[in-house]
Amino acid sequence: VAPLKVGIAGLGTVGAEVVRLIEQQARTLSARSGRGVQVVAVTARSKAKKRKLDLRGVAWAKNPLDLANDPGIDCFVELMGGAGEPALSAIEAALKSGKSVVTANKALIAKHGLRLAKLAEKHGGALNYEAAVGAAIPVIKTLREGLAGTSVHRVYGILNGTCNYILTRMEQEGLSFAECLKDAQRLGYAEANPSFDVDGHDTAQKLAILASLAFGTAVAQNAVYVEGISSITPEDLRAAEELGYRVKLLGVAVRTAKGIEQRVHPTMVPKSSSIAQVMGVTNAVTIDGEGIPPITLVGPGAGGAATASAVIADIADVARGIRAKPFGRPVEQLRVTSKAPMERH
Ligand code: NDP
Ligand code: HSE
Repeated sequence: VAPLKVGIAGLGTVGAEVVRLIEQQARTLSARSGRGVQVVAVTARSKAKKRKLDLRGVAWAKNPLDLANDPGIDCFVELMGGAGEPALSAIEAALKSGKSVVTANKALIAKHGLRLAKLAEKHGGALNYEAAVGAAIPVIKTLREGLAGTSVHRVYGILNGTCNYILTRMEQEGLSFAECLKDAQRLGYAEANPSFDVDGHDTAQKLAILASLAFGTAVAQNAVYVEGISSITPEDLRAAEELGYRVKLLGVAVRTAKGIEQRVHPTMVPKSSSIAQVMGVTNAVTIDGEGIPPITLVGPGAGGAATASAVIADIADVARGIRAKPFGRPVEQLRVTSKAPMERH
């Protein structure tokens, strides 16, 4: 069987690690997916940048759209970020030409996921985005496939590695918010614009995606109540600790009689609870389903290697010929039942 030919747009924290992993794991990947996987073309903003990557024999596309339209690739991997251009047009072009797309871009999936899923359904390609939520944690597959027969009534957890890293270091080391954020950026955890992390929007985007998969509803990012962690001080964390609590930024989506309630805000959790033990860049997602005890998935929630691991799993699915419905069912069957965001108290 001919190898799957992959084109990668974006060679930053995640993209560079994906290129390295495909090279390093070539044999395992080929054994597991039944065919080789080969990076044949890449692009990024700057061709001149030094990248510590061996790109010999790999073509450099002029821009993401050219790469997406390249007839020499089967799978377009978008790792640039941003809810708009150039990612959106490039993904649309790839899907329209029947290619499969893999992305880690939660901002784009939360905003345009349904439109893109329709294109994937129409033209027969896959639209895989496992890395968009919880990095290495296979939470998209768990909700979409593993729990396809379970009625979920609540999904919640710690969905942003940067915020949990900041809160952990502020609490344990008494460092300032600004120092911790700087380290999160240096380690490659934060978004290009870190206010998406600390103001809660990244968590809201991920929560909206999870809610859609969990409840069979249309993704509704605007229906999420959002409050971030930027005004929290080490003193606040100390005061919480004296009362027997830790502060965590939680995303919570619950099915209610009036629709789906979705909210993101810092929450005091008892120190003895399992969610309070989730420290550093780790994420945790708990799914409460009808007739089964809660399921909790815990793992690295950000960083190049953790995220690349999920991107590679998505690429392997494309190589195997798996074409899952991006939101677990045809887009026209997704219901619109999200509530308006709660009032700020
Ligand atoms: P980086 O900022 O490290 O890398 C972005 C890459 O995209 C760079 O190579 C950049 O080029 C390229 N790029 C940006 N704009 C353009 C453009 N207009 N045209 C061509 N190339 C462009 O981001 P990350 O790797 O951290 O994140 C990538 C995606 O993965 C985002 O959607 C992010 O939300 C998501 N993600 C990130 C995680 C993480 O832990 N970092 C975890 C989970 C998801 P150049 O190198 O030349 O500047
Ligand atoms: N900036 C994101 C985070 C990356 O810190 O969780 C992973 O999605």
